[in-house]
Amino acid sequence: MKVSWLSFALAGSVSAFWRLECHGRSGVARIDPLVNPGTPASHAHAIHGGNNFGFSSGYDDLRASECTSCSVKEDLSAYWFPPIYFEHSNGTIEMVPQVGGMLVYYIQIGDNVKAFPRGFSMISGDTRRRNFTGPIPDLETSVWTAEEQTQSSLEGKALGFNCLNYNRDAERFGSRHFLPTKDYMDENCKDGIRLELVFPSCWNGKDTESPDQSHVAFSSLLQGGTCPEGFETRIPTILFESIFNTNAFNGVPGRFVIGNGDPTGNGFHGDLISGWEPDFLQGAIDQCKDASGQQSACPLFTIQDEETEQNCKIDLPSEIRDEDCLRPGNQMPGNVQIYDGPGYAPPPGSTAPPASTTAPPQTLSLGYTPGELVITDNGGDVITIAKAALPGEMIPASTLTPNAAVLPAGGEAQPSNVALVNAESEPAPPPPPATTTTLVTSTKVWANIVATTTFTSAGAVYEVEIEEVYVTVTETQTINPIVKRMEAEKGIARMLHHHRNAHRHAI
Ligand SMILES: *[C@@H]1O[C@H](CO)[C@@H](O)[C@H](O)[C@H]1NC(C)=O
Ligand SMILES: *[C@@H]1O[C@H](CO)[C@@H](O)[C@H](O)[C@H]1NC(C)=O
Repeated sequence: MKVSWLSFALAGSVSAFWRLECHGRSGVARIDPLVNPGTPASHAHAIHGGNNFGFSSGYDDLRASECTSCSVKEDLSAYWFPPIYFEHSNGTIEMVPQVGGMLVYYIQIGDNVKAFPRGFSMISGDTRRRNFTGPIPDLETSVWTAEEQTQSSLEGKALGFNCLNYNRDAERFGSRHFLPTKDYMDENCKDGIRLELVFPSCWNGKDTESPDQSHVAFSSLLQGGTCPEGFETRIPTILFESIFNTNAFNGVPGRFVIGNGDPTGNGFHGDLISGWEPDFLQGAIDQCKDASGQQSACPLFTIQDEETEQNCKIDLPSEIRDEDCLRPGNQMPGNVQIYDGPGYAPPPGSTAPPASTTAPPQTLSLGYTPGELVITDNGGDVITIAKAALPGEMIPASTLTPNAAVLPAGGEAQPSNVALVNAESEPAPPPPPATTTTLVTSTKVWANIVATTTFTSAGAVYEVEIEEVYVTVTETQTINPIVKRMEAEKGIARMLHHHRNAHRHAI
């Protein structure tokens, strides 16, 4: 075991959630009944869920699905988003392989979370957006100003591109709101890019849909925080994740473009139409609160096997049946125009040539930022230290160094100064003493708890264990205060492993 660094971490109190695993993909096609009802959509989507999905599908159609490409048989919802494409320098375009399907998190944030009513649909993100104006990386949620909490700002922060490298510390969920540059991805993202998207979780309580999405709103901290006036009804906080193997194009000249013609990533978006029977979903919200988030921990769900999910496909409408959205040739599916921004993109399908721009594409890249520290004590002898963003933790409750240095390939991470800040807490608990920065490269580590203390933040009690970590090979001793949540930590560590493994099987 190699321990590259140790530091603190503390997550906010974890809300109850379940993680719906969609191992299958029902299709990649130009279908979007919300944005382009009745006709082929302007651009291609990766589509998961109930298979009775077409140009005009609604709740009843989805309920009439023969199958779903997700795991829970009772859920016939449809989930869709534009996939990542690669445009070779000679102009040939192909879709980047999607790895392992997608995950849909159902997180219960706030009191009295209500199930989606019949016919409920929503969209997160704006396909025409082409710039991100917020601080990079995000500020801690505890210091978000009113400007940081406008719906437009929240919408821009609701999407993320996580640079995956399983040999390194995981990035935090939602820490980058634009595609990294190709060079950065070639250098750092050996396991691809994980698309991340959080949906509005506040509802006006009456309209099940609206053309401009005015029936829903983001909560003030995206997750956590408060709902704006008029949107007081809490619905489950939905979060999409899907991995694309961008590393298949490592060293290949060209650029990545989201399926909607967006090379910046700012215009990434996703849609859903609920296909749950509302009473059933309410039952799951009320009863399925296992801290592990495992869908199998919910006694109400009928979980089907992966093969059944993978065999579940949409019967495509004849207009688009012969369209190859995986290898579309020398133009994007739907011939959607690629537009760099930074201005608002012309409406899809508009015949006006895209406004030319001399502004360079967004080239900012985040440093490779460590994620959450998770400690697993395998029987007292060896501790396994892994870092990964926790589910439902999309805003880092941390003080990250802006533009933190990019790690050398295979190198050691620098300890990050993760402050003890609960996303909803005010005031923040006092930070622990600074970690020593000694890097340990030993193959074996023992840990002794030398002190224990507790503090309370936002109503949750945290246990702080001060561990003395012994490293045999280097003979370096490092005293590290390790902050542990009292509950659920091991379960989540196990789930994170499970989650990663689940994503390694290609569709
Ligand atoms: C463009 O390059 C790709 C990758 O080398 C290749 O597969 C494709 O056939 C080329 N397209 C044309 C039109 O030459
Ligand atoms: C950034 O995008 C917004 C729309 O999302 C647009 O109003 C604004 O003009 C853009 N900024 C620049 C510098 O083009």
